[in-house]
Amino acid sequence: MQRRIVVIPGDGIGKEIIEATLPILTKAAKTHGLNLGYTTCLAGGAAIDAYGEPLPQATLDAARQADAVLLGAVGGPKWDSVRPELRPEKAILGLRKELGLFANLRPVKVSPIIAPYSSLKPEVVTGVDILIVRELTGGVYFGQRQEAAEVDGIVSAWDMEVYSQPEVERIVKVACQAAQGRKGKVTSVDKANVLATSRLWRKTATETAAGFPEVALSHMYVDNCAMQLVLAPKSFDVIVTSNLFGDILTDEAAVLTGSIGMLPSASLGQGTGLYEPIHGSAPDIAGQGIANPVGTILSAAMLLRYSLGADAAAEAIENAVQAVLEDGYRNADLYRPGMTKVSTSEMAGLILAKL
Ligand code: NAI
Ligand code: MG
Repeated sequence: MQRRIVVIPGDGIGKEIIEATLPILTKAAKTHGLNLGYTTCLAGGAAIDAYGEPLPQATLDAARQADAVLLGAVGGPKWDSVRPELRPEKAILGLRKELGLFANLRPVKVSPIIAPYSSLKPEVVTGVDILIVRELTGGVYFGQRQEAAEVDGIVSAWDMEVYSQPEVERIVKVACQAAQGRKGKVTSVDKANVLATSRLWRKTATETAAGFPEVALSHMYVDNCAMQLVLAPKSFDVIVTSNLFGDILTDEAAVLTGSIGMLPSASLGQGTGLYEPIHGSAPDIAGQGIANPVGTILSAAMLLRYSLGADAAAEAIENAVQAVLEDGYRNADLYRPGMTKVSTSEMAGLILAKL
């Protein structure tokens, strides 16, 4: 049976990193008995140029019918002046919403090879292996809001945070399932000393995790978590948290590794999963063949793991990446004297050869 993958290169370096990644995804899948069929679709700025809209219906329909979507990045200065509802970034928000992608998974791993690039001491970050599970379709980003309005001469605005029990339950389940294949530790992050939504979150997390006896759940306030992430990042295994807290903590955790070009992500729902590197379209280096493709290549590994159940194929890609880095090959973003500097396509070729 052929598995359908929708590929959205997008804008800027998106095309280069996707082109570099596809042969690796194809080979890893094939080696493990999977036959992939790709459909390339437009979204973001490229779709605005072609169709006058960031997320064409054809792209959405193809994504809905696919097993998974692999996305490069969208956006760039060329489209900065278009109307807000037509911005390229609407494509990502639209895909998340339409595909019901409520769980955002961001692994943050620091091997001895990338530890020297971290802003923290190598001994603090070497060996970090955290999976952050962020709720993606609820909370304050989706609650009722009031833009600045004047009431009795005073201008006010508000945003409402709402979480329902089923919303918390399903995201905590994702975290617990992920922890089962890891160290079995889930830290649920909230602000239950202040917020009602967080108290419901904490209660629901406790009840949900009770269904996973082999998983150890603990709770942490978000301010403490922000501190612990830089003090003792190795103490974490899986972190599960709300949309807003997750937005902030994932960026904080990402810089532990010192390179935005290395990190993958997965967004999961009931159906099609979406996989993309955490960085944007990097217009400053687009078209030069120097972008680091590893974040996208590791996103392809997540695709194999979470959408196709091909854990061995995912691990094969992750091991190949690690082996090439161990051999001293670096893209420009991680280059240091003594290493071998390679282009986007050369890095991908080396990883492909290791598979
Ligand atoms: P960015 O992540 O594109 O770039 C930030 C810095 O990191 C730049 O100096 C860039 O050259 C560098 N960088 C990023 N990825 C790299 C890679 N793979 N290899 C080497 N260096 C890399 O963020 P920025 O500049 O804030 O945004 C640029 C555009 O991307 C904007 O239009 C923004 O809206 C969009 N964007 C799209 C995202 C997506 O599609 N999911 C996510 C974030 C931003
Ligand atoms: Mg963010």
